[in-house]
Amino acid sequence: MSPRVVKPGAIGQPFSRVDGRLKTTGKATFAAEYNIDDVTHGALVFSRIARGKIKHIDTRAAANAPGVLSVLTHENAPAMKPTAVFGEESDQPGAASSSIPYLNTDEIYFYGQPIAVIVAETLEQAEHAATLVTVDYAEQEAKLSLTTEKSHAVVPANVLGEPADLNLGDAAGALAAARYKVDNVYSTPPYNHNAIELHATLAHWSEDETSLTVYDATQYVIGIQEMLATKFSLAKDHVRVIGSFVGGGFGGKGNAWAHVSLAVAAAQVVKRPVKLMLSREGVHLTVGGRTPTEQRVALAANDDGKLTALIHTGFTQTTAHNNFPEQFTFPARHLYKSANIWLRQEIVHLDIVPNTFMRAPGESPGTFALESAIDELAHEIGMDPIALRARNEPEKDPVQGLPFSMRNITEAYRVGAEKFAWSKRHAVPRTVRDGRYLIGYGVATAFYPAYQFPAAAKVEMHADGTALAQSAMHEMGMGSATAQAQNLADELGLAFDKVRFEYGDSLFPDAPVAGGSNSTISVGAAVKAACDAAKKRLHGLACADDASPLIDTRYDEVECRDGGLYRKDDATQGETFAAILQRCAMDKIAAEGKAAPSEGQKYSMGSYGAQFCEVRVDEDTGEVRVSRFLGVFDCGTIINPKTAVSQWRGGITMGLGMALTEAALFDVRRGHIVNPSLAEYHVPVNLDVPKIEIHFLDIPDPQTPMGAHGIGEIGITGVAAAVANAVFNATGRRIRDLPITLDKVL
Ligand code: MOS
Repeated sequence: MSPRVVKPGAIGQPFSRVDGRLKTTGKATFAAEYNIDDVTHGALVFSRIARGKIKHIDTRAAANAPGVLSVLTHENAPAMKPTAVFGEESDQPGAASSSIPYLNTDEIYFYGQPIAVIVAETLEQAEHAATLVTVDYAEQEAKLSLTTEKSHAVVPANVLGEPADLNLGDAAGALAAARYKVDNVYSTPPYNHNAIELHATLAHWSEDETSLTVYDATQYVIGIQEMLATKFSLAKDHVRVIGSFVGGGFGGKGNAWAHVSLAVAAAQVVKRPVKLMLSREGVHLTVGGRTPTEQRVALAANDDGKLTALIHTGFTQTTAHNNFPEQFTFPARHLYKSANIWLRQEIVHLDIVPNTFMRAPGESPGTFALESAIDELAHEIGMDPIALRARNEPEKDPVQGLPFSMRNITEAYRVGAEKFAWSKRHAVPRTVRDGRYLIGYGVATAFYPAYQFPAAAKVEMHADGTALAQSAMHEMGMGSATAQAQNLADELGLAFDKVRFEYGDSLFPDAPVAGGSNSTISVGAAVKAACDAAKKRLHGLACADDASPLIDTRYDEVECRDGGLYRKDDATQGETFAAILQRCAMDKIAAEGKAAPSEGQKYSMGSYGAQFCEVRVDEDTGEVRVSRFLGVFDCGTIINPKTAVSQWRGGITMGLGMALTEAALFDVRRGHIVNPSLAEYHVPVNLDVPKIEIHFLDIPDPQTPMGAHGIGEIGITGVAAAVANAVFNATGRRIRDLPITLDKVL
């Protein structure tokens, strides 16, 4: 950890997580762990073809199996209204993962599409009955291969609001004319989130069927609430969605997948609560992951290493019923200055489970390709890769032309190079060896945009000198609850142990999806607004009261500290919240606040980092072991160094998985993943992960709330490239296809 300046408030202190004790003692309740009287259990039946129609579905044996209460199919399921899909232009909530009307259609759009729901007294009975359903399909030819369908690729209307095809200058011409150039294709496989907690929905209707309570493993309680209200024709405030704890999301719980509305429909039919937890295979069948990518990066430079062309184009796969292009060209829009830039994303529509956000969507595969290419160019020119990056550091955003709100990437590299002892690197590959191990160093840039979304919060100041804030945000292991409690404490001038933060419930003021690393600043700004309103109200009581030492003060003449309001010009003059409230015979004062990013963005806002990797490669087997990893992050003010370091370390660990072990093996003949288990989908385990050293700059961004940035996703970015670059430095083998397995190294 970096040496720290001691700060006066809670922000910047390494508090342990407020939910840590609950989680480590097993007292945190996850969606599938809630117990409701009379609960029933659901199980899904999945399509075993990828495209076609259901000709006939025979549910008689299932319906007659022990304990079965109902079998829902497209023939008898309640009609559910269509809702907008994420990324669709619409006034409706866009929380749905797909526009497929599950169980309201006989059409099959992908292998694994739920085609029936069994409801039974026990989970075992439901799962058994699900095996008894037989289906006759009218099968159609399915499009399942990115490679085969590439000739039908299309350029989407936009990529998360940015142009999908962007041409500045003449990149092709500059490439052709350049002295130094690299021009290669990089590929990444499909991935799945594989959060430990399986997706689960527990749906409970009121007896009169006018209101609905849902416990859901979700990153977006408000999105689920709005979607279900529309689907089932309920008023929004008649739907309550609770997602107090989430056992890992990584984007996989950012949208509503099929089981969410199907659990609600099933509960409506059986008139009892239904708990529907997916199996691990069920997650791989019905919850989409990250698309594979095929990316071309071409770079050209003149003698002094200045880029004359930057080309980043390529393909991803998606479906006709969702909108997620995987923004792999985003890093190339912001990282390097080049007179000529050409960026283009194309999408191929397939008959597969819809893809979605996963662990820095876009930036993860995008930085693998771009940051590998930069390393390749450095090698071509014979320049140090850090020096090459510094040579091409832009003064303003290369594509938007806007000034950067904050950017200390060169400083991140300076700190990293020193701590990692980068100067010990040998530029010539295959130079350093320790017995049969070849040793190499690699470096790459980490990048993730700094997003703020609209959010709201409520604050209560209590007469006993404590405070409570509520917002429908999420805590899925990131440390959000702890960071917001620190923010709340500082806004109200209270000690950290005098405040509490409640979240994960749609009863609380609206908060955005826990995605895009937005929570800290989005919710943080809303908490600040709510605190401002509450403090003004409290001051309003005091300044009009003859009995108060604050009589006739203006709000800007007082400050909030030590559980009270005090004059700025005379620290002895003031009084506690308790005194003010008690005199007014009030036990608390409450206020709501809202915040949104300012209109008309005037800055290019991103977080940056420098990732350093050392590998040891077994020359005989090709096995790559990461022996050291170090990251330096430039993400604005760090609210909590303890949870922040943990976030980055987690992100880097995910990056090591991406680099070396992870891949969803997709059978392009049938259309499904053939390794749907944690035994066969290899996330990194302890022995795969070396000590990860983290440093951070802690330089505030003057344009963001608290000077902070969200930091959840940047950790993974650049890691796969740093590993691939280290493998090249160790062995002379350039691997452009992830994961870097030993067969590719040999
Ligand atoms: Mo994150 S992949 O935006 O949940």
